[in-house]
Amino acid sequence: MASGQYRPKTQWLLVGAIVVVTTLTTLGAIYYPWGLGPRQPIPFRHRIHAGTREIGCLLCRPGALHRSVAGMPSEQTCLLCHSRIIVHHPQIERLRRSDRRGEPIAWVRVSNLPDLAHLDHSMHLAAGVDCGRCHGNVKGMDRFVLHQDFNMGYCIQCHRENNATHDCFACHY
Ligand code: HEC
Ligand code: HEC
Ligand code: HEC
Ligand code: HEC
Repeated sequence: MASGQYRPKTQWLLVGAIVVVTTLTTLGAIYYPWGLGPRQPIPFRHRIHAGTREIGCLLCRPGALHRSVAGMPSEQTCLLCHSRIIVHHPQIERLRRSDRRGEPIAWVRVSNLPDLAHLDHSMHLAAGVDCGRCHGNVKGMDRFVLHQDFNMGYCIQCHRENNATHDCFACHY
C-alpha cells in the first residue's frame, strides 16, 4: 500500500520535468535558433560566410587593417555580393529596403572593452596576430559569441609572451 501513495507523486514529478525541459528547449530554440551569441537584426551567419564560403574577415571589416576599430559592415558591403546572390531571400530583401531608406541595420556589438582601456586592431594585424587569437573560431559560429573575457591579465599575458608593451598608457589614455 505504501508504494501506492508514492506512485502519483512520482508521475507528477515526471510530467513536471518533461514540461519544464520542453518549455526551456522551445524557448531556447526561439531565442537562440542557431545557438551561441546574441540575436542580430538580420540573422547573418559567420559559419556560412567565413566558413563554408571562405570569405576573408577583412572584406567586411577593412577598418581592422588601418584603424583602431574593425567596424560594422554597411548595407552596401553586403550588397557587393547580395545584389547578385540570393537576391530574393527575405532577409536580403530586408537588407535592400534598409539600404534604400538609408536606415542602417543596428548590428549588436558583441566585443567591447570598458571605456578606460583601448586596443588598436591595426597594430595587432601588423604584428601578425590573427583575428582568431582573440575572437575564437568565428568560422564555426553562426551567431558570433565572445570567445573569452577581455580582462587586463589576458592582454598582458600575450604582450609578455611577444615582448609587446607593458606601458600603462599604451592601453589606458
Ligand atoms: C589582440 C586581440 C584582437 C585581435 C587580434 C582582433 N581583435 Fe577584434 N576586438 C578585440 C577587442 C578587445 C575588441 C573590443 C574593442 C573595444 O571595445 O574597444 C574587439 C572588437 C572587434 C569588433 C567590434 C568592435 C569594432 O572594433 O568595430 C569587431 C568587428 C572585431 N573586433 C573584428 C576583428 C577582426 C575582423 C579581426 C582580424 C582582422 C580582429 N577583430 C582582430 C580584440 C582583437
Ligand atoms: C563576398 C560575398 C558576400 C558578402 C560580402 C556577404 N554575403 Fe551573405 N552570402 C554569400 C553567399 C555566397 C551566401 C550563400 C548563398 C547560398 O546559399 O546560395 C550568402 C548567404 C547569406 C544569407 C542566407 C543564408 C543563411 O545564412 O541562411 C544571408 C541572410 C546573408 N548572406 C546575409 C548577408 C549580410 C547581412 C551581409 C553583410 C553583413 C552579407 N551576407 C555579406 C555571400 C556574401
Ligand atoms: C595574442 C596576443 C595579444 C593579445 C591577446 C593582445 N595583444 Fe596587444 N599587442 C600584441 C602584439 C604582438 C603587439 C605589437 C607589438 C609591436 O608591434 O611592438 C601588440 C600591440 C598592442 C598595442 C600597441 C602598443 C604600442 O606600441 O603602442 C596596444 C595598445 C595593445 N596591443 C593593446 C592590447 C589590449 C588592450 C589587449 C587586450 C584586450 C591586447 N592588446 C591583447 C599582442 C597581443
Ligand atoms: C595591454 C593592455 C594593458 C596594459 C599595458 C595595462 N592595462 Fe590596465 N586594463 C587593460 C584592460 C583591457 C582593462 C579592462 C579589464 C576588464 O574590463 O576586465 C584594464 C583595466 C585596468 C584597471 C581597472 C580594473 C578594474 O577592475 O576596473 C586598472 C586600475 C588598470 N587597468 C591599471 C593599469 C596599470 C596601472 C597599468 C600599468 C602598470 C596597466 N593597467 C596596463 C589593459 C591594459
